[in-house]
Amino acid sequence: MLSDPVLQIRNLSVEFSARKRTIRALRNIDLDIPRGGTVGVVGESGCGKSTLILSIMRLLAPNSKIVSGDIVFEDRSLFELTEREMQSVRGNEISMIFQDPLTSLNPVISVGQQLIDVQYRDSVAKKVKQQRAIDALSQVGIPDAEARLSSFPHQFSGGMRQRIAIAMTMIEEPILLIADEPTTALDATLEVQIIRELKELQKQSRCSILFVSHHLGVVADLCDYVVVMYAGEIVEQGPVRDLFYNVRHPYAQKLLECDPARIVRSAEKKFPTIPGDLPDLGNLPGGCIFSNRCHSAFDKCETHSPRRTEVSTGHSVSCHLY
Ligand SMILES: Nc1ncnc2c1ncn2[C@@H]1O[C@H](COP(=O)(O)OP(=O)(O)OP(=O)(O)O)[C@@H](O)[C@H]1O
Ligand SMILES: [Mg+2]
Repeated sequence: MLSDPVLQIRNLSVEFSARKRTIRALRNIDLDIPRGGTVGVVGESGCGKSTLILSIMRLLAPNSKIVSGDIVFEDRSLFELTEREMQSVRGNEISMIFQDPLTSLNPVISVGQQLIDVQYRDSVAKKVKQQRAIDALSQVGIPDAEARLSSFPHQFSGGMRQRIAIAMTMIEEPILLIADEPTTALDATLEVQIIRELKELQKQSRCSILFVSHHLGVVADLCDYVVVMYAGEIVEQGPVRDLFYNVRHPYAQKLLECDPARIVRSAEKKFPTIPGDLPDLGNLPGGCIFSNRCHSAFDKCETHSPRRTEVSTGHSVSCHLY
């Protein structure tokens, strides 16, 4: 495990009850987010990425149940905080950037006012707050920032709105920034710019980032640690170079099948498709969850779940081949 983590997820399992069925959306998740590090989470649709994030934010749907495990943030168990304490963590210490920036911006309040409002804890004069807002907007590349303070979110393009959401995060100075597919709705050029802003933000504020994406190239570019999820489990995780150049799990291998150097450069946003279906999370088969789609499966894979094995420092895989 990594040293000095800001967030530690231990043995986390989450279920949803839906129409008399129990959907086992996350099972035995172990994950550390190092201080100042950027962790990328990848995996097919439905593998549990958003459930993982919402567990950290404690914003899971009411039909969810935390079956086991704990999430420790800066030495406090998030599951033990009161709702009030958790609200304060959400606003101040952990921020989120959503796929649709309109989710985090209020449509009826000017952008300038919103950037001032997020500084409510700070007792400095409004002029100072306003200047901070202008600086943050300029930093993320909004031209003519001062004049645009009075504009409303809808008066900006999608890419600009995502930058405003990042500017807001810059002002909030969170310890951990969680981004759920923040660039999926943007074209390739804008995406590159947004990733650059995120890198810059991280360099300045030294926050940690948990980044969810379907775009492997972006993960390779932005993250220093990669987590590969499949059907509610982490199948492989490790430092980005290790994972892209020395990938072990057959599922992760399929994802990265093409030349890793090409993935890094590729503007292709489509997530690679792998033949076969995800297992039914309401009726999980025994053995390894990937065995029905795996080209290397053997007898044991159908009867025994693989345990996590460390293959090199910080790089671990759950597969009977190792
Ligand atoms: N409130 C809920 N009730 C029942 N099932 C749910 C609920 N929320 C999520 N699920 C199920 O849990 C599984 C994981 O969903 P999740 O949204 O975490 O996937 P994801 O990896 O974020 O997918 P995507 O890439 O499409 O965003 C899916 O099978 C989903 O249908
Ligand atoms: Mg999701």
